[in-house]
Amino acid sequence: MATAITSAPFASGVVVYCRAGFESEAAQELDATAAHAGVAGFARTERSAGFAEFVLTQQGAPDALLRLLGWSRLIFARQSLAVIGQFKSLPKEDRLTPLLAALPEGFGVRDVWVEAPDSDAAKPLSAFCRSFNNAFVQALRRRGGLDPASPWRLHALFPSGERCLLGLALIDHAAPWPQGIPRLKFPREAPSRSTLKLDEALQILLSPQERERWFKPGMSAVDLGAAPGGWTWQLVRRGLHVTAVDNGPMDENLMASGLVTHKREDGFRFQPRQRVDWMVCDMVEQPRRVAERMAEWLAEGWCKHAVFNLKLPMKKRYAEVQQAFELMQAVVARRGREIEIRAKQLYHDREEITVFACER
Ligand SMILES: C[S@@+](CC[C@H](N)C(=O)[O-])C[C@H]1O[C@@H](n2cnc3c(N)ncnc32)[C@H](O)[C@@H]1O
Repeated sequence: MATAITSAPFASGVVVYCRAGFESEAAQELDATAAHAGVAGFARTERSAGFAEFVLTQQGAPDALLRLLGWSRLIFARQSLAVIGQFKSLPKEDRLTPLLAALPEGFGVRDVWVEAPDSDAAKPLSAFCRSFNNAFVQALRRRGGLDPASPWRLHALFPSGERCLLGLALIDHAAPWPQGIPRLKFPREAPSRSTLKLDEALQILLSPQERERWFKPGMSAVDLGAAPGGWTWQLVRRGLHVTAVDNGPMDENLMASGLVTHKREDGFRFQPRQRVDWMVCDMVEQPRRVAERMAEWLAEGWCKHAVFNLKLPMKKRYAEVQQAFELMQAVVARRGREIEIRAKQLYHDREEITVFACER
């Protein structure tokens, strides 16, 4: 076992993984977040690549960089890595030697993940990634480069068989799933596949402590646009009493749980009689209309916590998200309140993002 006697190599930038087709939003977000944090550089991306890069003007310390441009701060990022090597044409007969040469002797990583972007072009690379991952781990072990106490994980991202971005993840600040994709199992009893979206949202947007504190049997929730009940099912599974608002029919087995009250009403007009612990909303509508209604719920104190989807328009999607959040903050500020907003484009989201909001 190696001891991490050498500090991490300098980073030339950050690479984030994203849903294919959202590279430009990921790049705009990197530019905006870096500018806000005073990190000099520029974002670049390629169409449908499944990732975007931020190139630093001056090389920097990877840990500081990942605290500023980390995965959990970025809506469109599934993973965020500090880039320590870029290889445009690795020789097919020996890809390992140049990659190993980028790592200083004595620098230990806890693990190595060889990945391809989640893009059509990179799909055929999955078998290669698996076998090359084994070879990489063995080579690192031989040279004493694996250290179970290291805070770092090494990632080799292969957009093609010859091209590789070598990156470091700070394990405590990184997505814990290969490719940044949580592989959630669809629960057979759940009434719709949308159930995975709320499950993923709660895993990604809340810490384990928050999940434990904010979901307790007997708590109350409202689900706006609930039918057939995939989101309600997740709440019921956690023991919550749910008022499900939708003109459409709810799943019969779910209704038999005795924890659901179905109201055939307009979700944009519905108001709870009493403050509830949770409000979730999956109504497909104009993002501004949804954002405004969600903000009213929080401004009026009708719920403590909210999870909802914002459908993205075809164009200016990043700007639309920013405007929706500004609108929400303005609505609650008029009532003298402040809210915290966290958001992610989840693996189970398509042309939308999922947002968590709560009173500060
Ligand atoms: C995407 S589906 C919800 C799926 C649900 N979250 C699940 O997991 O099964 C959207 C739902 O919103 C409902 N909806 C749309 N506009 C609504 C409104 N103004 N009031 C109540 N429900 C509405 C639709 O009837 C539809 O059932």
